[in-house]
Amino acid sequence: MAIHPVVDIAPSILAADFAALGQAVRSVEPAGVRLIHVDVMDGHFVPNISIGVPVVASLRKATRLDLDVHLMIENPELYVGAFAQAGANWITVHQEATAHLNRVLALIREQGCRAGVAINPATPVSTLDEVLAEVDLVLVMSVNPGFGGQSFWRGAERKIAELRERRARGGLQFRIEVDGGITADTIAPVVRSGADILVAGTSVFHKQDPLAAVRELQRLAGEALLQRA
Ligand code: DX5
Ligand code: ZN
Repeated sequence: MAIHPVVDIAPSILAADFAALGQAVRSVEPAGVRLIHVDVMDGHFVPNISIGVPVVASLRKATRLDLDVHLMIENPELYVGAFAQAGANWITVHQEATAHLNRVLALIREQGCRAGVAINPATPVSTLDEVLAEVDLVLVMSVNPGFGGQSFWRGAERKIAELRERRARGGLQFRIEVDGGITADTIAPVVRSGADILVAGTSVFHKQDPLAAVRELQRLAGEALLQRA
């Protein structure tokens, strides 16, 4: 049976006004987005500090959309339970941040969440070979994580294509997410290379009309999907 691919835009609230996150989320809901991307940074794994568990708990009260929590933190195993309790639906940890990746991914699923693994630009796809059957999501970073508003790294497209090939070859189900520098100018080739979920921060929340910005990204993604080989 043919599976019809769907491409999701996941607005990243890192680029929104932190004093008005509920409003930011509500502003994009009418576009029909299904995920809100939440960036958690600890000042160690990445050179920046953002938000933590209490903010996820507050967002949980503000929306019914899936909270896609991207942990850019060391020792993620210590915090997975708290983020799950706070209402995360998807929890993604970095391959580079833990020596016990399988254990952390299993822990995420035990907590009732979908498990994701992320790789930085310098980390090859092959480092995930032993966990691909155990994840719901692979997040390909298209910038070095830590900050919004950086330029898209084109090498991500090749990695997305590699993941798509491995998924097909292994009969696997994980979704492929890309994060960093996604704009109306960069989105089309990324979708064509096989991305299923596109995170967008600056190109949504730094715009005067975030709802219109999401709708435009959705339109461009839909167009590019038709051209996917
Ligand atoms: C970067 C974060 C991203 C960030 C993307 O470290 O993981 O999710 O919000 O921001 P833009 O879309 O502005 O590149
Ligand atoms: Zn992110």
